[in-house]
Amino acid sequence: EVHNEDGAKRVVVTKNLPGERWLQILTAAGCRVEVSQHPDIILDNATIKKLIGDKCDGVIGQLTEDWGSELFEALKAAGGTAYSNYAVGYNNVKVPEATKRGIPVGNTPGVLTETTAEIAAALTLAAARRVVEADSFMRNGHYKGWLPTLFIGSLLQNKTVGIVGAGRIGAAYARMMVEGHKMNLVYYDPYPNTRLEEYIKKYSELLRHSGEAPVAVRRCETVEEVLREADVVSLHCNLDDNTRHLINKERLALMKKDAVLVNAARGPCIDEAALVKHMQENPDFRAGLDVFEDEPAMAPGLAQLPNAVIVPHIASASMWTRSGMATLAAANVAACVNGLPAFNQMDI
Ligand code: DGY
Repeated sequence: EVHNEDGAKRVVVTKNLPGERWLQILTAAGCRVEVSQHPDIILDNATIKKLIGDKCDGVIGQLTEDWGSELFEALKAAGGTAYSNYAVGYNNVKVPEATKRGIPVGNTPGVLTETTAEIAAALTLAAARRVVEADSFMRNGHYKGWLPTLFIGSLLQNKTVGIVGAGRIGAAYARMMVEGHKMNLVYYDPYPNTRLEEYIKKYSELLRHSGEAPVAVRRCETVEEVLREADVVSLHCNLDDNTRHLINKERLALMKKDAVLVNAARGPCIDEAALVKHMQENPDFRAGLDVFEDEPAMAPGLAQLPNAVIVPHIASASMWTRSGMATLAAANVAACVNGLPAFNQMDI
C-alpha cells in the first residue's frame, strides 16, 4: 500500500500485479494505491464492493470478476471514473453498464499477442506429438526401450492449420505454424486479414524460390469449412453471444478423426461436455486447452483423457507480458482518474 498526501486519487487493485512500473505510474499520477490481499483467488461482488468502499476513483480488476451493473454502480457511487481490466479479453465486463455510468473501460492488448500465440503453438505441438502422455509414461517407469510404434503422433509439416479469429493473436499463431511447420492456412473471420494473407503469400514465394513446396492461405466463408479441412484448428476469437459453444457436438463431428483442437481464447467457446464425449469416442482426436468452460472447474472426464493437454489459463504468463499488462492497466487508470481517455479504451 502506498500513501500519498491528502486529496490523492484512491485506486483499488483487486489482485497484486507483477513488476514495478505499474505502481510507479499510478503513484506519479497522484494516486494512492490499495492492493487487495484477500486470500480468495476469485473475489465475489460483495468482497469487491467492500474494497471499493465509499470513495474510489478507479479499479484495476481481473478477468475472474463479474464487472456488470452491480459493481459499476458501486464504483460510480464511490465517485469512480476508471475501470481497467487486467486482460485483453473482456467478456467479464459489461461495457455498456460502465458507459451508461460514465466510467471508461480499458484493457491490455498488444503485449500478450506473441505470448498467447506461443502457448497455442506449444499446446498444438504437445497435443499432436503426445508430449504430455509420453512424459507421464516416462515418470511412471513404463519405458522399457525404443520401439517403432511407441507414441506415434501426428506430423504437422505440410498439413493444414485452421484458425477461427484472425486478429492479432490468431495471426501471430498462424505465422508461427505456417513458417515453423510449412502448414497451409485456412481461416474464418468475419473480416479478411489482408496483411496476414499477403505475408503468407510472400513467404510462399520465398519457399518456391528456394525449391520448396509453397504454402497456401484461404479465408473460408464458414467455420464449418475450416473444421472440415484443417488438421489443426485453433480458436482465437472473442467470447460473445456468437461464439459461445461455437464448437459443439455437431461441429466436432465435422472435424477429421485425428484432428487437433486448440483453445487459448475463452473456455465457453467450446461445449466442453461435448468435447469430452467426442474425445472419449475418438481416441486419435487431440486437444490442447488453456481455458475451460467454467474455470477453475473442468467438465467431468476431461482430466482423465490421455488425448488432452490441459494447462491453467497461462497463455499470457511470461514476466515481460504480465508486467507489460500491468503497466498498460495502470496507464489506463492513471489517465482516466485525471480526466483523460484511457490508452486502450473499449467504449470509444
Ligand atoms: C487475457 O488477457 O484475456 C488472457 O486471458 C489473460 O491474459
